[in-house]
Amino acid sequence: MSQPDLFENPQPEPSGSAAKRVKELTEQILHHDDLYYNRASPEISDAQYDKLYRELEDLETRHPELLEPNSPTKRVGGEPIEGFKQITHALPMLSIDDVFELKDSEEPAGELIAFYQRLIKHLGREEIAVTVEPKIDGVAVSLLYREGRLAYAATRGDGTTGDDITHNVRTIRSVPLDLQGHAPDLLEVRGEIFMPNEAFAAMNTERDEAGLPTFANPRNATAGTLKQLDPKVVAKRPLAFLAHGHGAYEGPEFSDAMTFSKSLEKLGLPINQPLIEAGNLEEVLAAVKRIDKQRHDLGYGTDGVVIKVTSLAERAQLGHTSRAPRWAAAYKFLPEQQETKLLDITIQVGRTGVLTPVAELEPVLISGTTVSRATLHNQDEIDRKEVHIGAMVLVEKAGEIIPAIVKVTHAAKNAKRYSIFQSVDGKCPSCEGPITQEEGFVAWRCSNFQCPAQAVTRITHFASRKALDIDGLGETVAEALVRHKMCHNPLELFHLEEDQLGPLNLGSEESPRRFGQKNASRVIKSLKEARNKPLNRWLYAMGIRHLGESAAKELSRLHQTLSEVVESPLLAELLKDTRADAKKKNELLLPYQMSGDVGPAVALAISEFFESEAGQHVMQALANLDINPKSDNHLPKAAEADTSNMPLIGKTFVITGTLSEERGVFKERIEAKGGKVTGSVSKNTDYLLAGEGGGSKRDKAEKLGVKIIDEEGLLTLLA
Ligand code: IVH
Repeated sequence: MSQPDLFENPQPEPSGSAAKRVKELTEQILHHDDLYYNRASPEISDAQYDKLYRELEDLETRHPELLEPNSPTKRVGGEPIEGFKQITHALPMLSIDDVFELKDSEEPAGELIAFYQRLIKHLGREEIAVTVEPKIDGVAVSLLYREGRLAYAATRGDGTTGDDITHNVRTIRSVPLDLQGHAPDLLEVRGEIFMPNEAFAAMNTERDEAGLPTFANPRNATAGTLKQLDPKVVAKRPLAFLAHGHGAYEGPEFSDAMTFSKSLEKLGLPINQPLIEAGNLEEVLAAVKRIDKQRHDLGYGTDGVVIKVTSLAERAQLGHTSRAPRWAAAYKFLPEQQETKLLDITIQVGRTGVLTPVAELEPVLISGTTVSRATLHNQDEIDRKEVHIGAMVLVEKAGEIIPAIVKVTHAAKNAKRYSIFQSVDGKCPSCEGPITQEEGFVAWRCSNFQCPAQAVTRITHFASRKALDIDGLGETVAEALVRHKMCHNPLELFHLEEDQLGPLNLGSEESPRRFGQKNASRVIKSLKEARNKPLNRWLYAMGIRHLGESAAKELSRLHQTLSEVVESPLLAELLKDTRADAKKKNELLLPYQMSGDVGPAVALAISEFFESEAGQHVMQALANLDINPKSDNHLPKAAEADTSNMPLIGKTFVITGTLSEERGVFKERIEAKGGKVTGSVSKNTDYLLAGEGGGSKRDKAEKLGVKIIDEEGLLTLLA
């Protein structure tokens, strides 16, 4: 009998069985990815999927030799690239010349009928089989598969050469990295990358709440994302892919596009649908109508259909011009527009404090839904379109989710320019706090930390995982707290009592739902712990514009306490320097080895915040609560740049007395070698550089045992 393992060392699994399991898991995950991303018919729950995924990740960590380059766990994005290489398409990527744009008055299908009649004339037959499918409003892409494996992905570019975007496309789940079954030797798949409407809306909300700029529409978001050099950024954006054709191909022959599309589907490629076959003009028109009706349920932006001849022999016969094939045409839908009266413009304060003008309309019916409001975006848009109260306006419900005003059709009799600022009298309509318009931004924003319209966002952010991580306090609870007037701003959380929190009703009056004693005690315990959370978390939790997680970490590396940040000479310097050129900025940042996360924009936002009444209130409230956030010394130091020539990193100096040159000169010398200069002597001071005189600081240094040096002593340290 074998000896029992006394120390219970985990036995390494025989690599053979691990290899088998890795293969099994990979196959299962790919199968479920295909069902989820390409067929919208998942068979397992998210939790079950996560379990498989984690098991695979775990096995790959323990057996790195089993990690396949195309493993489903490798979709998170690799290293950033330096720039885009150029790729010459195996076959040129043509576009469609015959895009039939429509005006309100035109007979919608006229040009489409003309296109079909041209086909009849060229081919000399009455009935020509074509396919009709939605035109996806995305970014064209060409995927090249060699022996079933994705070799590269490229943008259309000028049609002959495009950008190599393989690093980014590999993160898109609906793009298979390996084809299923019997793959052809060579296959160039043509299709569109796009962002599904719902995912786009969710992403924009999230960005808005994080204070990031939002994208105008899904197409812009897609194009902007694909231009990223860092695939990790792309991996976090909800992009999707649909195939609608092919370029170069070496494999079993086929005679028509319909058969080919079915075989692409078998290879695991997601196909643009519905793909309707039409055998004559009547059927073409019916198919267009069908897609027009369905288009709002497709989940992505579409503004028309593409009609293509099915038979490949007929396509060859028709040929193409230098730009576009003669066998394809695009037909745009009539935009859904209606005229109505603009009754009023109201201002909504968003959850992040942005003041958004909303058009209040005389209700009209547009493609089945009553529209009574439309967004006006901002003052620029109002001015550009000369929108004013009382005007007749054209309202459009295009592919977008929110109706928009296209233009003014008839001005009001005594039309007056509408000004957001004037209409709210310079005050936030929700809290009467001051509104500001940041340089470079068109939006007006309420800058009051206490603004009730923003309370839920502020509290939720304050309690979020990366901020102060208050266990059990999410958006629902924040909403209930604000609704029941138990808490109006984040710092008021610290006044909450457990007995108050327990009975909190998260539901409605009709169907109440108690928060409960156990949850209440979790929140209170977490809040207690939050008091001593490090400075970087506190800084981030304040929700100051531009002050993200990395900037907060950087600031807490360079400062010890919140008061130090508020009075920071470094931030003051950056602020002075907002207009300095890049070179000067670098000189300024170098001594601090700053990562670049803290720049003039952050400095400005911080100083504005703490100088404002709201900021002063926060500092006062923190003092009353006896909360004094301190830097966490375990934070990683900035990149170990050229520390060889930075002997003073981590050393804090105070300068006093009369020296041979101005103090600023010595300050610069110290900072150039990585040191820090502060204003007053404390136990954190390493050296007091003392000239003639300098009484009280010298006394304090002596009392605290801080080393006192003269100019010569400094020279030695600098050497
Ligand atoms: S077929 C030879 N089908 O629209 C060109 N194109 O100008 C055949 N597009 O850049 C293209 N949805 O990327 C085709 N279902 C669809 C499409 C589609 C969008 C894009 C395509 C091209 C542009 C046409």
